[in-house]
Amino acid sequence: MKLNIALLAGDGIGPEVIAQAVKVSDAIATKFNHDITWTSGITGAAAIDACGEPYPDETHEICMNADAVLFGAIGHPKYDNDPTAKVRPEQGLLKMRKKLGLFANVRPTFTFPSLIDKSPLKRERIEGTDLVFLRELTGGIYFGEKGRRDGGNTAFDNCVYTRAEVIRLAKKGFELAMTRTKKLCCVDKANVLETSRLWRETVQAMEKDYPEVEVSYEFVDAVAMRLVQWPNSYDVLITENLFGDILTDEASVISGSMGLMPSASVGEHTALFEPIHGSYPQATGLDIANPLATVLSAAMMFEDAFGLTQEAKAIRDVVNASLAEGIVTEDLSGDKKAYKTSEVGEWLANNI
Ligand code: IPM
Ligand code: MN
Repeated sequence: MKLNIALLAGDGIGPEVIAQAVKVSDAIATKFNHDITWTSGITGAAAIDACGEPYPDETHEICMNADAVLFGAIGHPKYDNDPTAKVRPEQGLLKMRKKLGLFANVRPTFTFPSLIDKSPLKRERIEGTDLVFLRELTGGIYFGEKGRRDGGNTAFDNCVYTRAEVIRLAKKGFELAMTRTKKLCCVDKANVLETSRLWRETVQAMEKDYPEVEVSYEFVDAVAMRLVQWPNSYDVLITENLFGDILTDEASVISGSMGLMPSASVGEHTALFEPIHGSYPQATGLDIANPLATVLSAAMMFEDAFGLTQEAKAIRDVVNASLAEGIVTEDLSGDKKAYKTSEVGEWLANNI
């Protein structure tokens, strides 16, 4: 099969982890007889430096013409510490999500048998955890009107949702729940927020179309607590943009490292696959970042964008083998030998 993939390495450790996902994907292509064409584009701080724009039109063209986008990370500390910066790398990511219509961000959380004891949470709490967040990605407070008034002394960020936005996200949630244990949790703050009341009312009205799905409604603060207390009680969770951002970082702790969790963003145009972690600037260029979240994002890409389930399984199997063998980066190595980012990628590719 011909696979036409846009490659956006981005900032920080992005290029290093993306390079490993490319090695692994190329090894898969050789093994299963596929022909991958990688087309690179610039994003984030790297793109601001090159042309003043974090998601240039040329990069958007590359993404629109591809069958899938594999993305690294975005962000640079020189902008984090400068609240007055006019252009920020993260705007590139938001613009990309919006222009590609990627309204649903699928973020699974699962445990790896060989890593259970790496999690700061107790084994008996997390064993068998297998849940998926569907985070709304192109609406809410991220995209509402924002600004200053009162001579700069008052700031506002509006949170806006339309019923149609809730329906299209919730529909994906119900459909996903039907393929799993038929349990869906709608996470909101309906005791306080009007947007949450719209979410709840909309999801409630959809329940009759999916009679087999058992739906629960929980407040986000309670979910934040229960998620680390009884992660096993959840299966599919749907939520708005900011709540999803926060809860999925929290959930990554369950697996043992933020460097492990992949994601897929889907919607109107080309789907995008990226690790949930950020650009980890402190580690840039040191060849120490964990590449597995990006490698597992490539697995999601083979499966979701191309329907290549055997290929995805081969990647997951080799990742599990590397963990079992202790071929891991320093975030997971404990007092054992820490392998470099590039060595982990090499090992994975050689063992496919
Ligand atoms: C994520 C990131 C982004 C977000 C940032 C980099 C804008 O934290 O993908 O979760 O907040 O969505
Ligand atoms: Mn985030």
